Parts: sequence; structure tokens; C-alpha cells
Amino acid sequence: MKLNEALQIPLTSIDREITNIVKHDPDVPRSSELAGAITGLIASGGKRLRPLMVIVGSRFGPASDKRKIWRLAAAAEFIHAASLIHDDILDDSPLRRGRPATHTQTGIYPAVHIGSYMSARVVELIAEYSADRKRYVFDLSSMATSRLCIGEYQQLKHAFDYDLTLDQYLEKSRNKTSLLMAACLRIGAQAAGADEDISGRLYEFGDKLGLSFQIRDDLLDFTGTEEQLGKPAGSDLRSGQVTLPVLFALEDAKLAQRIRRVGPSTSSEEVDGVLAAIRSSGCLERAEAYSLRLLEEARRLADGLEGFEAQRDLYTLLDYFGCRSK
Ligand code: FPP
Ligand code: MG
Repeated sequence: MKLNEALQIPLTSIDREITNIVKHDPDVPRSSELAGAITGLIASGGKRLRPLMVIVGSRFGPASDKRKIWRLAAAAEFIHAASLIHDDILDDSPLRRGRPATHTQTGIYPAVHIGSYMSARVVELIAEYSADRKRYVFDLSSMATSRLCIGEYQQLKHAFDYDLTLDQYLEKSRNKTSLLMAACLRIGAQAAGADEDISGRLYEFGDKLGLSFQIRDDLLDFTGTEEQLGKPAGSDLRSGQVTLPVLFALEDAKLAQRIRRVGPSTSSEEVDGVLAAIRSSGCLERAEAYSLRLLEEARRLADGLEGFEAQRDLYTLLDYFGCRSK
């Protein structure tokens, strides 16, 4: 069963709401390349994890302003989609979900502007709720988006930095991945009137879930096939990303010597050799165990939310995240 079905949330309604964000912008003609690129991107699919998390979060609150919740859910996906447009340009990835990425279709400069417009449009959309003076307005219109940008910046700055610490790795991963997920659960809860304690616990839950998700994604770079990943295996190491398995491998003096030699002009054969050495070092298993510990911590947080019917949705998310990655 698909995640949205298990959560009883129709994806078509989420997609309609996302498309409305651009369709209802009076400043963007529907026939424009800008509108077409965005609706095409939305139509290319995706699991809509972030909107699903906003809706799950809202099930922890008493109020049911459905209109507001669905709008916020759509806005969360809009930010995520904008970040992927920029990410594919930065990563020089021609494909997204097996289809040409936005910049492959429009060229790089239009795609940069499309991504920027999308993140700015979210601010415009959320401003409507600013009279609420609630944290979720700030979360979605600024915090989550700035953190995404900071995370990408940190990743760039730490390329080929083999002195990266575990804390720096975790901070970057939180900024890039888990804080938006955490914010989505909290945004839904707060917009539905849940109290601070509950929305705070959901935030913690989302943070742990997201971090575990990012680590599993890092692992896929070692274990996935090119078809699964949409890019050659080992791309992270080749592009200088020091992920958790690499951090663990750097603790071994011999392996560290080989890893530290990997730089922007290292040959493919040499990187393949380092990848194989990391694969057989036991570091992938260590990283997997780290990710599972985070899931366990998230499970304990979910256990503490008994009395809410939506507690079962948190378990559904846990099951989904436990056996899958991006
Ligand atoms: C995917 O990473 C990318 C992100 C999670 C965030 C990207 C954020 C930016 C580029 C900042 C710009 C933000 C806005 C809102 C315009 P990945 O390359 O590890 O994953 P992938 O395999 O899915 O590409
Ligand atoms: Mg990428």
C-alpha cells in the first residue's frame, strides 16, 4: 500500500492544491513557460512526503480549518520542489525522478528563476496567515527555507573536507533534510491549534525521522544501482561529500589515508577502489545502525503520544521510513 493510502490522504487533492498556487497567481499567465514548467514538475510525481506530514501534524490539533491546512501542505511541497530545481543545477543532474530535470528543459538561467520564484511565492502565500502570529507562519515562510539554503552552503563549503566532525555532518543533514520535515509536522499541528508541547514533540519526531532518512540516502550512494539512484553509485564520494559511512571509515588510519587522497581530479578507478574498501569495512553497517537508533528514538516519541488517533499515522510514517529511502 502506498504511504498516502495508508494515511488516507488522496494525492490528487494535494496535487490540485499545489498546482493552484501557480494557477491562482495573477502575475503569472497560465500559458507562460514559468507556469508550464511548474505544473509539469508537479505532474511528474513524487511521494509528497512533506504535505503528508503537514496533514498528519494537523490531526493532532482540535481545529479543522481544512483550507488552511491543505494550503500549508501545498506550500511545503512548493518549497521542496523549488529546492530540487536548484539542487539539480548545482549537482549537474540532468534527470529528476527519471525525467528531464527542469533546467534540462528550460536551460539553467530560467530554471534558477523558476526555483527562486517558487520559494518567494510561498512567502507571499503564507503572509496571508501572518495575522495569526503563530510560529508556523515563520516556520514555513522563512526558517525552513533559510535552513535548506544554509545546509546546501555547508555541504558546498565542506566538499572534500575530511576533517568534518560528526556534529558538523549532523547539522548539515538537519538543515538540508530533517528540519523541513520536522517543521511540516509542527506547522500542521500548530495550524490546527495543537498545544506547544504536542507540536514540539512532533517536531522532535520529524527531526529524528528526517535525519534517519538522510543517513539511509547517504548509504544508498554505496549500495544503490545507477538505475535506482538516477546517478552513478559513488557520486557523493566523487563530489567530495563526506557522509556518515565515510566519517566512520576515516576513523581507520589505513582507510583514512586512501580516502584523504580523493579529490576533484581523482581517477574513477581510484574512487571505485575506495568505495569498495568502505563497503567491506563494516562502516555501512555502523551507519545503518545509527539510522535505526534514530528511528527507535522517533518510535519512543510516538509512543508518548498515546490518546491521539493520529498516533497510528506516526507508526505508519515510521514503517515507511524504516524500509525505504528517497
Ligand atoms: C537534495 O539533495 C537537496 C536538498 C534536500 C536541498 C536543496 C536545497 C537547495 C539547493 C537550496 C535552495 C533552496 C530553495 C528553497 C530555492 P541531494 O542532492 O542529496 O539529493 P538528490 O539525490 O535527491 O538530488
Ligand atoms: Mg541532488
